[in-house]
Amino acid sequence: MKVLTVYYSRTGITAEVARALHAALGGELEEIKDTRNRAGIINYLYAGMEAALKKAAKIEPARHDPGAYDLVIIGTPVWSHNISTPVRAYLEQNKAKFKACAFFATCASSGAVKTLGDMENLSGVKGKALLDINKKEYRSGAFRKKAEQFARELLS
Ligand SMILES: Cc1cc2nc3c(=O)[nH]c(=O)nc-3n(C[C@H](O)[C@H](O)[C@H](O)COP(=O)(O)O)c2cc1C
Repeated sequence: MKVLTVYYSRTGITAEVARALHAALGGELEEIKDTRNRAGIINYLYAGMEAALKKAAKIEPARHDPGAYDLVIIGTPVWSHNISTPVRAYLEQNKAKFKACAFFATCASSGAVKTLGDMENLSGVKGKALLDINKKEYRSGAFRKKAEQFARELLS
Protein backbone atom coordinates (compact mmCIF):
# COMPACT_ATOMS: atom_id res chain seq x y z
CA MET A 1 0.00 0.00 0.00
CA LYS A 2 1.43 3.39 -1.02
CA VAL A 3 0.94 5.88 1.80
CA LEU A 4 1.34 9.67 1.80
CA THR A 5 1.18 11.59 5.08
CA VAL A 6 0.48 15.30 4.58
CA TYR A 7 0.31 17.95 7.28
CA TYR A 8 0.48 21.63 8.05
CA SER A 9 1.99 22.77 11.34
CA ARG A 10 2.51 26.28 12.68
CA THR A 11 4.27 25.40 15.95
CA GLY A 12 5.45 21.82 15.43
CA ILE A 13 2.78 19.73 17.19
CA THR A 14 0.94 18.44 14.13
CA ALA A 15 4.37 17.91 12.54
CA GLU A 16 5.44 15.65 15.40
CA VAL A 17 2.25 13.58 15.18
CA ALA A 18 2.78 13.33 11.40
CA ARG A 19 6.34 12.07 11.93
CA ALA A 20 5.10 9.41 14.38
CA LEU A 21 2.54 8.23 11.81
CA HIS A 22 5.11 8.26 9.05
CA ALA A 23 7.45 6.18 11.21
CA ALA A 24 4.68 3.63 11.80
CA LEU A 25 3.31 3.51 8.26
CA GLY A 26 6.23 4.34 5.97
CA GLY A 27 5.67 5.97 2.59
CA GLU A 28 6.17 9.67 1.98
CA LEU A 29 5.84 12.66 4.28
CA GLU A 30 4.82 16.07 2.95
CA GLU A 31 4.54 19.38 4.74
CA ILE A 32 2.00 21.87 3.41
CA LYS A 33 3.83 25.18 3.11
CA ASP A 34 1.87 28.33 3.77
CA THR A 35 3.00 31.47 1.96
CA ARG A 36 1.99 33.78 4.86
CA ASN A 37 3.98 34.66 7.95
CA ARG A 38 2.00 33.25 10.90
CA ALA A 39 4.23 34.50 13.73
CA GLY A 40 3.02 36.98 16.34
CA ILE A 41 -0.32 37.90 17.86
CA ILE A 42 -1.72 39.86 14.89
CA ASN A 43 -1.09 36.96 12.54
CA TYR A 44 -2.54 34.56 15.13
CA LEU A 45 -5.76 36.56 15.30
CA TYR A 46 -5.89 36.86 11.52
CA ALA A 47 -5.41 33.10 11.13
CA GLY A 48 -8.22 32.40 13.59
CA MET A 49 -10.57 34.80 11.85
CA GLU A 50 -9.82 33.40 8.39
CA ALA A 51 -10.26 29.83 9.59
CA ALA A 52 -13.63 30.70 11.16
CA LEU A 53 -14.65 32.26 7.82
CA LYS A 54 -13.58 29.02 6.08
CA LYS A 55 -11.00 30.79 3.91
CA ALA A 56 -8.24 28.86 2.15
CA ALA A 57 -4.63 30.04 2.46
CA LYS A 58 -2.30 30.47 -0.48
CA ILE A 59 -0.01 27.42 -0.28
CA GLU A 60 3.06 26.31 -2.18
CA PRO A 61 2.53 23.60 -4.84
CA ALA A 62 2.48 20.06 -3.42
CA ARG A 63 5.59 17.95 -4.01
CA HIS A 64 3.70 14.64 -4.22
CA ASP A 65 0.64 13.82 -6.33
CA PRO A 66 -1.97 12.46 -3.88
CA GLY A 67 -3.63 10.63 -6.76
CA ALA A 68 -0.61 8.32 -6.92
CA TYR A 69 -1.22 6.96 -3.38
CA ASP A 70 -3.56 4.26 -2.08
CA LEU A 71 -3.97 6.14 1.18
CA VAL A 72 -3.46 9.83 1.97
CA ILE A 73 -3.33 10.76 5.66
CA ILE A 74 -3.97 14.45 6.26
CA GLY A 75 -3.35 16.37 9.47
CA THR A 76 -4.30 19.85 10.60
CA PRO A 77 -4.07 21.96 13.72
CA VAL A 78 -7.52 23.17 14.85
CA TRP A 79 -7.98 26.89 14.27
CA SER A 80 -11.10 28.47 15.76
CA HIS A 81 -12.81 25.07 15.85
CA ASN A 82 -12.12 24.73 12.13
CA ILE A 83 -9.65 23.29 9.62
CA SER A 84 -6.54 25.49 9.42
CA THR A 85 -6.55 27.62 6.26
CA PRO A 86 -3.49 25.90 4.67
CA VAL A 87 -5.04 22.43 5.07
CA ARG A 88 -8.36 23.75 3.75
CA ALA A 89 -6.47 24.92 0.64
CA TYR A 90 -4.82 21.49 0.25
CA LEU A 91 -8.15 19.66 0.58
CA GLU A 92 -9.90 21.99 -1.87
CA GLN A 93 -7.11 21.67 -4.43
CA ASN A 94 -6.78 17.89 -4.23
CA LYS A 95 -10.17 16.47 -3.30
CA ALA A 96 -10.78 15.05 -6.79
CA LYS A 97 -7.59 12.98 -6.50
CA PHE A 98 -8.01 11.07 -3.23
CA LYS A 99 -8.60 7.29 -3.39
CA ALA A 100 -8.73 6.77 0.39
CA CYS A 101 -7.98 9.07 3.30
CA ALA A 102 -7.48 9.13 7.04
CA PHE A 103 -7.48 12.35 9.02
CA PHE A 104 -5.88 13.69 12.18
CA ALA A 105 -6.24 16.95 14.03
CA THR A 106 -4.38 18.48 16.96
CA CYS A 107 -5.81 21.10 19.30
CA ALA A 108 -5.26 22.76 22.65
CA SER A 109 -8.44 21.42 24.19
CA SER A 110 -11.49 21.33 21.91
CA GLY A 111 -12.70 21.34 18.34
CA ALA A 112 -10.75 18.39 16.93
CA VAL A 113 -13.66 15.96 16.51
CA LYS A 114 -15.76 18.61 14.74
CA THR A 115 -12.76 19.52 12.56
CA LEU A 116 -12.23 15.87 11.56
CA GLY A 117 -15.85 15.76 10.37
CA ASP A 118 -15.26 18.97 8.41
CA MET A 119 -12.24 17.36 6.73
CA GLU A 120 -14.37 14.38 5.67
CA ASN A 121 -17.08 16.68 4.33
CA LEU A 122 -14.69 18.93 2.44
CA SER A 123 -12.71 16.08 0.88
CA GLY A 124 -15.82 14.05 0.15
CA VAL A 125 -14.03 11.02 1.63
CA LYS A 126 -14.97 9.18 4.81
CA GLY A 127 -11.79 8.72 6.83
CA LYS A 128 -10.59 5.10 7.14
CA ALA A 129 -9.55 6.20 10.63
CA LEU A 130 -9.68 9.46 12.58
CA LEU A 131 -7.25 10.70 15.21
CA ASP A 132 -7.68 13.66 17.56
CA ILE A 133 -4.86 14.81 19.84
CA ASN A 134 -5.10 17.53 22.48
CA LYS A 135 -2.29 19.44 24.17
CA LYS A 136 -2.43 17.31 27.33
CA GLU A 137 -1.98 14.12 25.29
CA TYR A 138 0.79 15.76 23.33
CA ARG A 139 2.68 17.00 26.39
CA SER A 140 2.38 13.71 28.30
CA GLY A 141 3.43 11.66 25.27
CA ALA A 142 0.10 9.78 25.35
CA PHE A 143 -0.40 10.83 21.74
CA ARG A 144 2.12 8.16 20.69
CA LYS A 145 -0.16 5.31 21.85
CA LYS A 146 -3.12 6.90 20.04
CA ALA A 147 -1.02 7.33 16.90
CA GLU A 148 0.06 3.67 17.06
CA GLN A 149 -3.58 2.56 17.42
CA PHE A 150 -4.56 4.77 14.45
CA ALA A 151 -1.74 3.24 12.38
CA ARG A 152 -2.86 -0.30 13.36
CA GLU A 153 -6.42 0.49 12.25
CA LEU A 154 -5.09 1.62 8.88
CA LEU A 155 -2.98 -1.49 8.41
CA SER A 156 -5.72 -3.96 9.41
C1 LIG B 1 -5.32 30.72 15.05
C2 LIG B 1 -5.40 29.58 16.01
C3 LIG B 1 -6.64 29.17 16.49
C4 LIG B 1 -6.73 28.10 17.37
N1 LIG B 1 -7.98 27.65 17.75
C5 LIG B 1 -8.08 26.58 18.58
C6 LIG B 1 -9.37 26.04 18.95
O1 LIG B 1 -10.41 26.49 18.49
N2 LIG B 1 -9.41 25.00 19.83
C7 LIG B 1 -8.27 24.47 20.37
O2 LIG B 1 -8.37 23.56 21.19
N3 LIG B 1 -7.04 24.92 20.01
C8 LIG B 1 -6.92 25.95 19.12
N4 LIG B 1 -5.68 26.40 18.74
C9 LIG B 1 -4.48 25.70 19.22
C10 LIG B 1 -3.92 24.70 18.19
O3 LIG B 1 -4.94 23.96 17.57
C11 LIG B 1 -2.97 23.71 18.85
O4 LIG B 1 -2.01 24.37 19.62
C12 LIG B 1 -2.33 22.82 17.79
O5 LIG B 1 -1.94 21.60 18.37
C13 LIG B 1 -1.14 23.50 17.16
O6 LIG B 1 -0.59 22.68 16.18
P1 LIG B 1 0.75 23.07 15.41
O7 LIG B 1 1.84 23.15 16.45
O8 LIG B 1 0.96 21.94 14.48
O9 LIG B 1 0.53 24.38 14.73
C14 LIG B 1 -5.56 27.46 17.84
C15 LIG B 1 -4.31 27.89 17.36
C16 LIG B 1 -4.23 28.93 16.45
C17 LIG B 1 -2.88 29.35 15.92
